[in-house]
Amino acid sequence: MDRQEAIEFLIDHYENPRHNHALENPDVSLSGGNPGCADVITMHARFGKDGKLEAIGWEGEGCTISRAAASYVTEIVEGLTAEEIEALSFEDLMDQLGRELVMTRPTCATLALGTLKKGVHDYHMRELRDAAREA
Ligand code: FES
Ligand code: FES
Repeated sequence: MDRQEAIEFLIDHYENPRHNHALENPDVSLSGGNPGCADVITMHARFGKDGKLEAIGWEGEGCTISRAAASYVTEIVEGLTAEEIEALSFEDLMDQLGRELVMTRPTCATLALGTLKKGVHDYHMRELRDAAREA
């Protein structure tokens, strides 16, 4: 992506956010914010019986970069397992969003993914604990 394409990509996600909604019966519903701004992004996720992400959504207020990143993150996690989501890298995300554009605001660019990873990790730990208890 050249610089112009990267700008258009971010603006498209900002203006046409993907999965910008709540979810019914979410397994994950976690809000995250950044120190120094009042923005709050809430990530919702639900997993299917096969262990793969079944539905994803996000809500909240944030700057252009954090909203565009939240929208993009909900696209890349489709069909992934909890473990795969937990393993997603912030560095890869920065590259995919256009590092040159977002490097001055890394906390904004990674807010949605960080929040989702934390929520998914807590969910995964709960699932593992329940499975161990039943075994
Ligand atoms: Fe999810 Fe360890 S890989 S809790
Ligand atoms: Fe608050 Fe970007 S300035 S998330």
